[in-house]
Amino acid sequence: MFSYSDFNNKLSKGSGIGELMLDLGNGLEQAHRQKIEISMLGGGNPAHIPSMEEIFKAKWNELGNDPILLARMLGDYSAPQGLKEFREILAIYLSKQLNAKLTPDHIAITQGSQSAFFMLLNSFSGELESNKTFQKILFPIVPEYIGYLDQSIKRNSFTSIIPIVEKTAKHRFVYKINFDLVKDRISKRDIGAICLSRPTNPSGNIVPSSDMVELYNIAYSSKIPLIVDNAYGYPFPNIAFVSAQLEWKPGMIQVFSLSKLGLPGLRTGIIVADPEVASRIGEMSSILNLAPGNVGSFFVENWLNNGQISQFSNEIIQPFYKEKSNFALSLLDECLNEKVEYQIHESHGALFLWLHFPNHKLNSRQIYNKLKSQGVFVVAGENFFPGLEVDFSHKNECIRLTYSRSPEEVNRGIKILASVLAS
Ligand SMILES: Cc1ncc(COP(=O)(O)O)c(C=O)c1O
Repeated sequence: MFSYSDFNNKLSKGSGIGELMLDLGNGLEQAHRQKIEISMLGGGNPAHIPSMEEIFKAKWNELGNDPILLARMLGDYSAPQGLKEFREILAIYLSKQLNAKLTPDHIAITQGSQSAFFMLLNSFSGELESNKTFQKILFPIVPEYIGYLDQSIKRNSFTSIIPIVEKTAKHRFVYKINFDLVKDRISKRDIGAICLSRPTNPSGNIVPSSDMVELYNIAYSSKIPLIVDNAYGYPFPNIAFVSAQLEWKPGMIQVFSLSKLGLPGLRTGIIVADPEVASRIGEMSSILNLAPGNVGSFFVENWLNNGQISQFSNEIIQPFYKEKSNFALSLLDECLNEKVEYQIHESHGALFLWLHFPNHKLNSRQIYNKLKSQGVFVVAGENFFPGLEVDFSHKNECIRLTYSRSPEEVNRGIKILASVLAS
């Protein structure tokens, strides 16, 4: 009907994250409406943890019963970089957690961390008028978050490095960064930033801190930022079963989110970066959103002040997911063992298990479709390789499965997966 711009075509012509969110929304709605059984093991929705929901309810009532606070929270725009008072509190809390001297100027609040990545990935990729180059974002290890895949405005803005695959047990493996390849790629001088999620969505990998230091040194000496996505990581929600602690240092951009605490509806992302970067994000936010929403800031302010956010993360959220991870892993071993050739990435954290089916007659897309037709939603692996320019068998042989749903849903989903793979 209309002629659309390249920008629109690039962003509206279907994407992995779009398919995932459609499955999540439509699948759940259909299940509610038709009262049919489904297993939603596809999306990254955090679990509804009953004790956390009680805490959220109490906070909601507390905010609602304070008319002065309510008027500010709902009735006033914040500054584009976020409420100063909230950034001051965050600076104190995060300075301790990240072993850094942070000020409110190091912090920018965004409408969810997804939009933070849209701004960041497009800030460090694309044409650079000043030196006539086209810069790319380097993902030093893949698979990597599906939500980055389609975020760049310009095509071919991403490049990534195939990992080393290390076997850790009979049916377990871990991905490792291939630093020789990373250094070789950086030496081509067209990389604008290095980016990774930690824990990694989808593999559940937590890149070891020694590797993070090495990545930081590579980025720093190349005068490019190291962007670290802590959506599931330290210090909150800390869905990490091995240590995910990380210092902030100049030149680093660390991104946090309130979503995986169980608050995705608040749409609150937090960027910690050098003041120049944080200020540029504020400028961009004013164009895109005027200002970020205030509710998330008011919601967690006291929990940052009194450290309860760490307590909730370490004492409620992390053990909850650890138990879920163990449950799904033992069920998978029980259902797949000896019937199917399979490998599972070590579960260091996040909400997912990354399953590899080498030499199977079905590829990951076919497995996805067969499961979907039986009401089991997973995510096909091919969507998790942003910018990969070489062949890697895992791209078509893996699926991501979310273990945050109820034991009944996970049980049903894994049993159907096992029967699809064995048939
Ligand atoms: C690795 C990772 N980063 C960022 C996000 C974006 O989350 P939000 O926009 O809710 O903060 C997600 C969401 O699932 C994610 O998995």
